[in-house]
Amino acid sequence: MKGVILAGGSGTRLHPLTKITSKQLLPVFDKPMIYYPLTTLILAGVSEVLIITRPEDSSSFERLLGDGSDFGIEITYSIQEKPAGLAQAPLIAERFLNGEGFCLILGDNFLYGSGLGRKLQNLTNIQGSTIFAYNVSDPTQYGVVEVDSSGHALSIEEKPKVPKSDLAIPGLYFFDSEIIDICKKLNPSARGELEITDALKEYMRRGSLKVEILPIGTAWLDMGSFESLLEAGEFVHIVQSRQGILIGDPLTAMKTRSKTN
Ligand code: G1P
Repeated sequence: MKGVILAGGSGTRLHPLTKITSKQLLPVFDKPMIYYPLTTLILAGVSEVLIITRPEDSSSFERLLGDGSDFGIEITYSIQEKPAGLAQAPLIAERFLNGEGFCLILGDNFLYGSGLGRKLQNLTNIQGSTIFAYNVSDPTQYGVVEVDSSGHALSIEEKPKVPKSDLAIPGLYFFDSEIIDICKKLNPSARGELEITDALKEYMRRGSLKVEILPIGTAWLDMGSFESLLEAGEFVHIVQSRQGILIGDPLTAMKTRSKTN
């Protein structure tokens, strides 16, 4: 299975830090941020990863992660010239994907929870798109999905002022190869970006969008603001020191994956 990490974007909410480095290289307790989404992909069973970065940050990511062989995976890199939206990622990745389905994760998304790896590994043969939903106290900051009692998506909105539900959409998406054509036909939103939520709406219109609600006890944080960056670091610190384990560590994740498979 292939995976793509979008680690571009200008990270304006983290200025001035992100003037001199990429948001996804900032420390989250004892590791660079990108280790966490990379670990999620490894736990999901991904072995080939494409990392999309700003032009000026590409060499730093390559210095950090190389070709992935330290972690037993293959890593390659592509550039996002301008931060023109999340739905640019599948287009940038088109050659890498070579007509296959894949998992896209945003480089600032942190996911941790019991059974998460197994849940994600079950999604390898993807048809249509599968996304996740996570109950939050303030959904206005996120893509929001409204579902009926059997889990079918009824509506999807990007950062709605008046959300129709409390279910935010984490930055972890599974797509089949249709995503490329869908993204090619998207028009920029009012904020001038190709929105991933518009691509999800098209899957919903076709009746091929699945939504899985993440169970209580799963931790999902996006690390794009000073508060959430600090919270993620504190979470990692607390769990690691209390349990004597490493979380968000690609090598540990690969060892876990090898043992369970
Ligand atoms: C993006 C997506 C949003 C999603 C969020 C998850 O928002 O547009 O739908 O819920 O990531 O982190 P951004 O963080 O780029 O504003």
